[in-house]
Amino acid sequence: MILKILALGDVVGPAAVEKIKNSLWGIRREYKLDFAVINGENAADGGGMDIKSTQILINSGADVVTAGNHTFKRREIREYLDDTREVVRPCNFPDEVSGNGYTVVNANGYDFLVMNVMGTVFMEPLACPFRSVEKILARAGKYDVSILDIHAESTSEKIAMSHYFDGKIDIMFGTHTHVQTSDARVMPSGSGYITDLGMCGPENSVLGIKKEKIIEKFLMHTPVKFDVADGEIKLHGAIFEYDTDKKRTVSARLFEY
Ligand SMILES: [Fe+2]
Repeated sequence: MILKILALGDVVGPAAVEKIKNSLWGIRREYKLDFAVINGENAADGGGMDIKSTQILINSGADVVTAGNHTFKRREIREYLDDTREVVRPCNFPDEVSGNGYTVVNANGYDFLVMNVMGTVFMEPLACPFRSVEKILARAGKYDVSILDIHAESTSEKIAMSHYFDGKIDIMFGTHTHVQTSDARVMPSGSGYITDLGMCGPENSVLGIKKEKIIEKFLMHTPVKFDVADGEIKLHGAIFEYDTDKKRTVSARLFEY
């Protein structure tokens, strides 16, 4: 059996949430998807994660929503993360932080292990992402397919991780940098991988934010408000095919909608 898994990159702002709400069930049917995972760390209006938009993503067809460095911008999300199996936050935060770094969700009769980790290059000095993910693999128990969202700034850190876990994690993808990379592929030992899924958000922007604001920031070096840009929303990500008989990912390709 071939399982088809869609991964969508960082959702930026309410208009992107709305587009997913209006299109994801249709996309699931059109592409005959078995599973969908979305990075929702900036889905809330004004950045970060809120309960309402995260819940919309789940109700719209996301089996699991992953997170990142902006997850805890709003306090309301903390308790929610403790109570919601469908949302994971980076596993290398300190243990005392709300939420879980991994979850196992059943879809179409298969158990999907979904993990989230944050890079530490040019980011918060969290625990070692490699060792943190290894610890999950050691204790996660039984599952059929494993998926890892590597939320990281540095390309080399993501690629190094993909080689380190090649053959041990079935599907790995990078998020956070908001620009889709062209390297969707199957690694030598059978893991599907892409360095960054890209963004679900307004195209005519700087990473989803009004371009004028970011240009002002670069020119003046003074604080600006990061307003989400208007205009056409594009969904970016990747579709992976996992062969349950061969127990390896057999294809990885870019997705745009
Ligand atoms: Fe991020």
